[in-house]
Amino acid sequence: MSNQTKIAAIIGGGVIGGGWVARFLLAGWDVNLFDPDPEAPRKVGEVLDHARRSLPALYDVKLPDEGQLTFASSIKEAVSDASWIQESVPERLDIKHWTFAEIQAHCAQDALIGSSTSGFKPSELSSESENKSAIFVAHPFNPVYLVPVVELVGDADTLDRASDILDQILMKPIKVKKEIDAHVADRLLEAVWREALWLVNDDIATTEEIDDIIRYGFGLRWAQMGLFETYRIAGGEAGMAHFIEQFGPCLKWPWTKLMDVPDLTDELVDKIASQSDKQSGKHSIRALEQIRDNNLVAMMRALKTQNWGAGALLNYADKQLKSAIPSNAGEQLETVRRVVPVDWTDYNGHMNEGRYGQVFSDAADFIIEFIGADEDYIKSGLSYFTAETNTNFLQECHAGDEFYVQTGVLLAEGKKLKLLHEMKSADGETLATCTQFLLHVDLNTRKSCPPEAHILKNLEALRSNYAVADEQGEA
Ligand SMILES: NC(=O)c1ccc[n+]([C@@H]2O[C@H](COP(=O)([O-])OP(=O)(O)OC[C@H]3O[C@@H](n4cnc5c(N)ncnc54)[C@H](O)[C@@H]3O)[C@@H](O)[C@H]2O)c1
Repeated sequence: MSNQTKIAAIIGGGVIGGGWVARFLLAGWDVNLFDPDPEAPRKVGEVLDHARRSLPALYDVKLPDEGQLTFASSIKEAVSDASWIQESVPERLDIKHWTFAEIQAHCAQDALIGSSTSGFKPSELSSESENKSAIFVAHPFNPVYLVPVVELVGDADTLDRASDILDQILMKPIKVKKEIDAHVADRLLEAVWREALWLVNDDIATTEEIDDIIRYGFGLRWAQMGLFETYRIAGGEAGMAHFIEQFGPCLKWPWTKLMDVPDLTDELVDKIASQSDKQSGKHSIRALEQIRDNNLVAMMRALKTQNWGAGALLNYADKQLKSAIPSNAGEQLETVRRVVPVDWTDYNGHMNEGRYGQVFSDAADFIIEFIGADEDYIKSGLSYFTAETNTNFLQECHAGDEFYVQTGVLLAEGKKLKLLHEMKSADGETLATCTQFLLHVDLNTRKSCPPEAHILKNLEALRSNYAVADEQGEA
């Protein structure tokens, strides 16, 4: 093994292990999975179906080609060539210790060994290991293939190496400064969960009412600004100090039950379960997962337009992914390749016509950059405007469908550029075509003008390599 291998071993393929499998595979890594449950391939297959439909839809460029999934018959077989090993077995220290011993008996000395544990500290996880610093906490959130954050706890050098790999698989590592039980997120979530159990127990609110208070209320704020930034604003112009001055005393009032936990009696469990059935029982768990995934994709894509929080991370990833696309010198120029995001579909259940405009505009942007009319050229006051488009919609496409666009040149002469975009399904069927007429413009006068000499030269090369004829046979 070496740090260069893009092979991950996932030990335990349940809810979380399955999510890690999808996260690595869709980032182009090969994955070896070991799970003794004979149902594991089916369960992981279902998680992968969800992930393939939703994760690529977060990005506006193509993800790397999917890696290869292998079902290993032992931990030894799974870990021997892996550079990242992710333990995701049940939350019991004895099972985890046994698993780490088996992993470390067969993995490379420098392999990274992350644990998905929700609560154990690295010192507890590695207490029986001779190579303790290789084992660290890499605590993800469900669904691992969509939620980017991973809490890292452990040896500083190991965490630096782990962060690099998590960046590569488009996640957001956060290093926790000191080990504590349950890291950071589960500390916060336990506090909220404890209060929620009391509120149901004491008949203050039902499960649905509590969920509504979160999803119509502070949950919206949390998703984009978290806790401290939200409270800073709540302090008004005087900011955080004023907020603490105003609400600080309430912390000592009996607003919370603090460490008291309601007894999870049969009666309370039945009450919560029946309220939850009434609230959500009309959906299967798989259907709820799909609803959750669609909502997460739509929310993160909305944050992308604001370049904020999880959306800013996606924009950064788009740039990285774009720069990794190999230069495009084949017979036909591929200008877009991506998946239809869920928020591009409409009441007819297919991609909305307005989004075709966006696809073909993205294809034209590719061409404009390709001929050298880049950010600096535009800053210098020269650019292209679209003067006319004509789109033919030939086949439907739906959320999660992969498609690509090939662009040919109908005319490239002085300030005039006419393109033919063909949008095709992953198996090559034409979905739509668009002819687009663009004019080179001076951004100061807002009038058309000839491009600079180097652009004209590139345009000539573009035309000679990628000229096509339109339906009337005009080139
Ligand atoms: N479920 C969550 O929301 C969540 C979130 C973050 C972290 N975690 C943590 O992730 C870990 C896994 O939790 P989960 O929810 O995926 O549990 P799970 O019960 O869904 O999956 C555990 C899997 O481990 C397999 N397994 C059992 N013994 C094994 C062994 N010896 N070797 C290999 N596989 C074995 C089981 O067959 C099962 O498929 C736990 O440490 C948990 O605390 C869970």
